[in-house]
Amino acid sequence: MPKIEIEFARDKKALTEKLRGYPAVFVVADRKIKDMIVEDLLDQFGENGVAIRGVKYLRINEKRKNLKTVESILEWLIRVGADKDALLLAVGGGITTDLTGFAACIYKRGIRYANMPTTLLAQIDAGIGGKTGCNVKSFKNMAGIIKQPEFTFINADFIRSLPWEEFCCGYAEMLKTFIIADPLAYQEAIELKNYELIGPLIEKAVNIKRDIVSKDEFDHGKRRTLNLGHTFAHAIECKSKGRIPHGLAVAMGIVMAARHSEAEKIANKGLADKIAADFESVGLPSECKWNEEQLAPIMRTDKKAQDGKVHFVLPQEIGKVVIK
Ligand SMILES: NC(=O)c1ccc[n+]([C@@H]2O[C@H](COP(=O)([O-])OP(=O)(O)OC[C@H]3O[C@@H](n4cnc5c(N)ncnc54)[C@H](O)[C@@H]3O)[C@@H](O)[C@H]2O)c1
Ligand SMILES: [Zn+2]
Repeated sequence: MPKIEIEFARDKKALTEKLRGYPAVFVVADRKIKDMIVEDLLDQFGENGVAIRGVKYLRINEKRKNLKTVESILEWLIRVGADKDALLLAVGGGITTDLTGFAACIYKRGIRYANMPTTLLAQIDAGIGGKTGCNVKSFKNMAGIIKQPEFTFINADFIRSLPWEEFCCGYAEMLKTFIIADPLAYQEAIELKNYELIGPLIEKAVNIKRDIVSKDEFDHGKRRTLNLGHTFAHAIECKSKGRIPHGLAVAMGIVMAARHSEAEKIANKGLADKIAADFESVGLPSECKWNEEQLAPIMRTDKKAQDGKVHFVLPQEIGKVVIK
């Protein structure tokens, strides 16, 4: 079983102590959060004797999530003299953690890396589980390696500055996780009024993903359940020519999966309407303008399709899914 180490920020001292255990720490951070988060963090590390040996800021977006950016990290590591004992620390959203992890996996045939995710999506999803990588041309996450980070630090305070749409995208993925495995947490998340109190829900979602990944690190079985809503979502993103962001497409995709599940008599009638109403109540979209038939040709070419056959993750009830 892989070792998946996660530190929640309640224990700030443990964090710096852990980092102090590494002889040379190199930080790769999203430039957008330099003033908001990274500079404070670096001061804190400096005061606590963490051996920060270099900082690289990345200007990121999906177009720049490519081998060129990975190469720029590698070149920087060579320039600043990072050795085999270096730890690469990613501070940012999923693009930053994916790129940094990948660079760490191939630099000098592999150095250690750790994640400090700063978006809700990266805290509950991208920053844990060990999938690293980048896009190749327009093909998403086509290159990459699965290798667990040394640890992931989760601090819910970091996401306070997130734009609303980014927060919603993360929220959709969090609800997805609860639909897979935790009906009580799902209800809590739907009823949550004060988003400042999201910390315990993040922790629950993280623990569910950790549990799933620890049983199927390399994505041959159980880990596929995390794709709930995603086959539809990828087709919706494609149809919208990228105008519908991933997380919102996932929300729509989950509702479509629930309708499909009802049609297949896997779920009882009413599940899709309930999920749709719940999503609307937290400000997420639940319907898109394309039906399953219109999305089918794109779904058949999904990167996870095998011989034109698509694995659907279908909700049976809140807290339980099946793979068809
Ligand atoms: N490795 C995995 O298992 C996995 C899982 C899911 C998604 N992903 C990948 O993650 C990426 C999406 O992650 P994301 O949504 O975090 O994207 P992202 O890294 O682009 O971050 C979203 C936006 O928020 C900004 N941002 C980051 N932290 C902020 C903060 N604290 N305050 C204000 N703004 C902040 C970023 O600059 C960016 O504009 C995709 O590339 C996807 O493929 C990977
Ligand atoms: Zn997703």
